[in-house]
Amino acid sequence: MECAEPSRDCPLCPRLAAFRESNRTSFPDFFNAPVPSFGDAEAQLLIVGLAPGLRGANRTGRPFTGDYAGQLLYSTLLKFGLASGEYLETPADGLRLQRCMITNAVRCVPPANKPEPSEINICRHFLTQRIGVLPKLRAIVVLGRIAHDSTLRALGLKLAAFPFRHGASHAVPGSPVRLFDSYHCSRYNTNTGMLTPSMFETVFKTVRTYLEISNNSDVD
Ligand code: URA
Repeated sequence: MECAEPSRDCPLCPRLAAFRESNRTSFPDFFNAPVPSFGDAEAQLLIVGLAPGLRGANRTGRPFTGDYAGQLLYSTLLKFGLASGEYLETPADGLRLQRCMITNAVRCVPPANKPEPSEINICRHFLTQRIGVLPKLRAIVVLGRIAHDSTLRALGLKLAAFPFRHGASHAVPGSPVRLFDSYHCSRYNTNTGMLTPSMFETVFKTVRTYLEISNNSDVD
């Protein structure tokens, strides 16, 4: 049966499986498993990140939760009505995503935050399935180039035809889905000023407007 989420002991990437085992010994209280996608099964928007951070999503078991990058991501989703409740850096906060889901290009925490190309390729199976089981999907926000490239490949598109550029968006041929590029909201990118909160918010403002237009045209 096709499945959009890996099992807790997914063996497909030997290096990541070995890292998971060692983390289970070093950090027995952490989640230490592929981090499942989080959000609304009826999502119109899918956000694709890179991979869980060791002490963030790999600890808490929810994408971006407890990671530095999650502070900007969740505050932005709350600001644009794509989440409700309060983000308290724990899955117990009861935060809910509205019309939105978050996933990662690579579901397991990689050593030094760097997945190997082969791991990105292997894990794409789950990204492809995830995209395929969202019946209302209209928009995908890719956070950074790795998410961008893996999402293009998952959609069967040629990378050269859809170059990554922060703020760019691309129509997906033969599909109602539009792809929106953003720099990753990582600590490095925000600390260096590569990505400011205002640049990030502009992406989500554009996406929300796009979803409203696309919803209205569904009704017409
Ligand atoms: N946490 C995630 O879950 N994904 C990222 O890309 C970064 C942090």
